[in-house]
Amino acid sequence: MAGSGLKDGILAGKTAFVAGASSGINLGVAQAFARAGAKVALISRSAEKIEAAARTITDEGFEAIGMAADVRDYAAVEEAMRQAEGKLGKFDIVLSGAAGNFVAPALGMSANGFKTVVDIDLIGTFNVLRASYQFLNRPGASLISITAGQGARPSMYQAHVCAAKAGINMLTKCLAMEWGPAGVRVNAISPGPIEDTEGMRRLAPSDEAEQRIKARIALRDYGTKTDIAEAAIFLSTESAKYITGTIMNVDGGSELGDAGGSAIPDGF
Ligand code: NAP
Ligand code: COA
Repeated sequence: MAGSGLKDGILAGKTAFVAGASSGINLGVAQAFARAGAKVALISRSAEKIEAAARTITDEGFEAIGMAADVRDYAAVEEAMRQAEGKLGKFDIVLSGAAGNFVAPALGMSANGFKTVVDIDLIGTFNVLRASYQFLNRPGASLISITAGQGARPSMYQAHVCAAKAGINMLTKCLAMEWGPAGVRVNAISPGPIEDTEGMRRLAPSDEAEQRIKARIALRDYGTKTDIAEAAIFLSTESAKYITGTIMNVDGGSELGDAGGSAIPDGF
């Protein structure tokens, strides 16, 4: 099915490296990058899962490779990138989205529980972005981290995720300043609740919880993986050539706060 899909050809000739891509939002973005014309390299911890994920792309007739690498292991990430560069060429796009989450009060979380999420999300993002620098097509490369609303807003039972994603937001801005002079743009996308994802299965495991969340979002719905892919593609094109250091909310207005209740009073 080569040549059908989102923004056909807009990323033709480009290579993308996507971390945390065996499922969910990041796999959706990797698939969209491929449909838009990019060659894609994917990593996650599980060889079986990431090879299956890459096959979903090659089965559509696009070029993709999947490799096992844990983002907490800098040497493993660097080695995967070396192999990806050898097969697909230097990277025009790097997306760092590996993450872990569970719902737990701080007092129900061991030091290792807190550290595990900070290691995957924040240290992992540093590892991916830092290791990628030597493999980037410079100038012109677009680096994108996947953060979350927890990075800007405190949240009950999410101390680990809030701390990690806030760190990603600040890392995004620091690297944008340091690498901008080399023509490397560094941005983050902050998705709101996205349907059919592991993240929302963990955060809102019941239909009732899902309805409660939707009722408080300005646009009154969950987003889709395609919504995030559209933003990632935009950030990777010439249209975004003057955008760096941005945390782009793709969240239906979640970041604005609780929009619950009868938003428009009777008579208006
Ligand atoms: P997901 O399907 O569980 O995706 C997480 C991915 O990270 C998986 O592919 C997992 O693959 C990989 N991963 C986990 N630990 C890793 C490690 N140490 N090294 C390498 N890869 C690792 O979850 P999702 O809900 O789609 O979330 C994707 C991203 O969006 C995350 O950054 C999340 O914080 C963000 N986000 C999600 C939502 C939402 O509504 N779902 C909202 C806001 C932000 P393996 O198990 O194969 O390693
Ligand atoms: N509540 C409290 N602590 C928890 C927990 C929970 N629900 N789940 C895990 N932990 C703790 C563990 O007890 C352990 O701490 P300990 O050694 O002091 O007991 C620590 O977290 C690490 O757990 P472990 O299972 O060894 O980590 P891992 O590296 O294999 O897995 C996780 C990482 C825990 C984040 C796991 O949930 C995961 O792999 N998540 C990826 C998918 C995901 O979260 N998707 C949503 C993205 S938004």
